[in-house]
Amino acid sequence: MSNGDRVVLALGGAGTVGSGIVKALLDRGFKVAVVSRDSSRLERLKAFVSPSTKGSLTTLVGNVGSEEGAEQVKQALLRSVGKVTDVVSSLGFSWWQGGPPHTQTLKELNWVIETLLLSTFVSWKAFFPLVRDDPNCTYTFITGGAGEKLLMPGTGFLTVGAASALAFCQVLREEYPEVPCKLNQVKINTGVATPERLAPGYLSHLDLGEAVAALVERRSSSHTTFAISSPADLKTAMLEGNL
Ligand SMILES: NC(=O)c1ccc[n+]([C@@H]2O[C@H](COP(=O)([O-])OP(=O)(O)OC[C@H]3O[C@@H](n4cnc5c(N)ncnc54)[C@H](OP(=O)(O)O)[C@@H]3O)[C@@H](O)[C@H]2O)c1
Repeated sequence: MSNGDRVVLALGGAGTVGSGIVKALLDRGFKVAVVSRDSSRLERLKAFVSPSTKGSLTTLVGNVGSEEGAEQVKQALLRSVGKVTDVVSSLGFSWWQGGPPHTQTLKELNWVIETLLLSTFVSWKAFFPLVRDDPNCTYTFITGGAGEKLLMPGTGFLTVGAASALAFCQVLREEYPEVPCKLNQVKINTGVATPERLAPGYLSHLDLGEAVAALVERRSSSHTTFAISSPADLKTAMLEGNL
C-alpha cells in the first residue's frame, strides 16, 4: 500500500505537536484527517500545510474527547474518507504551571485528567477497532516525559496528567501484546514549539513531525516506546532509522 492509499487520522492534529506531524505526513503523500473542536484552528492548519498538499487534508469539526462526539466523528470520517489506516494521537495541552497542589481545585485536576487521559482513552476506544487487526495499520501515541518527574515548581498537575497517559500506553502494550496493528509511543522529554518560539533544547514541531511521519511510513516496529530528550536525540533516531 503506497502512502497515497493510506489515510491517517491525526487526533490533536490542530495543536502545536500535531500540526507538525500533519504537515510532514501530507508532504510524504499521505491523506490526513484532522478533527478539532475549533473551526478557526482548522483554518489555521489549512493555511500552514504545504499548499500543494491541501487537497489531501480533510478537516472535521468535532469533539473526540466525548463518547458521543467520537462516534459522530467516526461516522462522518468514514463517510468522507472511506477508511482509516493509521492514527496518531497527540491530545492534551502544551504546558501547565498552575501552582502546587494545595493551591489547586478538584475542578482543575478534573480538567487536566480529562484533557490528557480521558480524551486519549475515549478516542482510542472509538478508533482503534478501525486499525487493530491489520498489520499494515499503525496507532502512535505522542506522550510527555513530564509524567516521570516534576519539571519545576508549580507543574504538579502536568506530571499527574502526563503520568496517566504514560500508564495508559503501557497498559495497552501489555493488554494487547499480539495485536497486529503497529502500536507505538513517542515519549518527548523536552519542550516542542514552532520555529518562532523555539527555546534552547526544544524540538521544532517540524522536525518532530518529520520523525513521526517516518515512523508511520515505515511500520517496522510495534509495542515500542521511542524516547526523545533533545534535538540531537531526534537527529540520531532519524539517521539510525530508529524512529
Ligand atoms: N508542547 C510540548 O512542549 C510537548 C512536550 C512534550 C510532549 N508533548 C505531548 O504532546 C501533546 C500535545 O501537545 P501540544 O503542544 O500539541 O498541545 P496543544 O497545542 O494544546 O494541542 C492539543 C490538542 O489536543 C486536543 N484536545 C485537548 N483536549 C481535548 C479534549 N478534551 N477532547 C478532544 N481534544 C482535545 C486539542 O484539540 P482542539 O483542536 O479541539 O482544541 C488540540 O488539538 C501533549 O499532551 C504531550 O503529551 C508536548
